[in-house]
Amino acid sequence: DRPEDMEPRSPVVTIMGHVDHGKTSLLDAIRNANVVSGEAGGITQHIGAYQVEKNGQKITFIDTPGHAAFTAMRARGAQATDIAILVVAADDSVMPQTIESISHAKAAGVPIIVAINKIDKPSADPQKVRTQLLQHEVFVESMGGEVLDVEVSATKGTNLDKLLEAILLQAELLDLRANANRTAEGVVIEAKLDKGRGSVATVLVQTGTLLVGDIVVAGNEWGRVRALVDDHGEHVKEALPATPVEILGLQGTPQAGDRFAVVTNEARAREITEYRQRLARDKAAARHVGQRGSLEHMMSQ
Ligand code: GTP
Ligand code: NA
Ligand code: MG
Repeated sequence: DRPEDMEPRSPVVTIMGHVDHGKTSLLDAIRNANVVSGEAGGITQHIGAYQVEKNGQKITFIDTPGHAAFTAMRARGAQATDIAILVVAADDSVMPQTIESISHAKAAGVPIIVAINKIDKPSADPQKVRTQLLQHEVFVESMGGEVLDVEVSATKGTNLDKLLEAILLQAELLDLRANANRTAEGVVIEAKLDKGRGSVATVLVQTGTLLVGDIVVAGNEWGRVRALVDDHGEHVKEALPATPVEILGLQGTPQAGDRFAVVTNEARAREITEYRQRLARDKAAARHVGQRGSLEHMMSQ
């Protein structure tokens, strides 16, 4: 990519945090507060990721159970996220999965924004959260650090705007860019086999523009893009960088965290996926032999 081809793109955000601290509630609250008019009752189709618009700028939220998806993607070497929102319930404060989330974000070099949630609760103690975060080297601004923190209530809808502004501020510092004028590449967020529609893969386009008709290799699978469905359930002709979209038309179901790329023709797609499927089979066979070997070893002791 030439520097002049790199245009600003939206930030991609994942929500992480301890069980029951309000990850899903926060994602739902943000989505429902920002539904496009005409989408009655905020009934958007769930595709595993969605975009909202704030001050004319888009933010992409990965809407799968943040922690698990992040871990799965990291394990497969895929980096889908620019910013991690760390949700900490103000009545429960820092807990084991809060600490785990911090290590994941730090290991991936992804900046954290702290959402101190459930501030509507009488037992909320946001200051305790900030103090406890110090012990895990998350230094929020009021503690002399640079990590942005926002007190929110997902259920009351308090300060959701402030959280979106913090995300845009953080994104500006990151100066996120992508080249839209090339064939698409990105990462699979989730994929399933749908009875009516066949293989349905939700992907995040990270670079280039994905088009209906493109030939895509995703992990060990390939197919010609029959249709693209956006986060509002609308059929679209193309998906730009940082856009989540469903791909219909793959011949098999790839895995979360698999990378995808557009290739020039079907023969090339077949060649790549046959090679990968053979590798996967060989690996599985080797693992099987390894297990049997160690079992025989154990039994001969
Ligand atoms: P897991 O996905 O199971 O880890 O949980 P989660 O982090 O997604 O939390 P979830 O959104 O399911 O919320 C857990 C509980 O906390 C639910 O009963 C929510 O209604 C409640 N809750 C979430 N946010 C708030 C909030 O801002 N205030 C109050 N009072 N309750 C909240
Ligand atoms: Na929960
Ligand atoms: Mg949840």
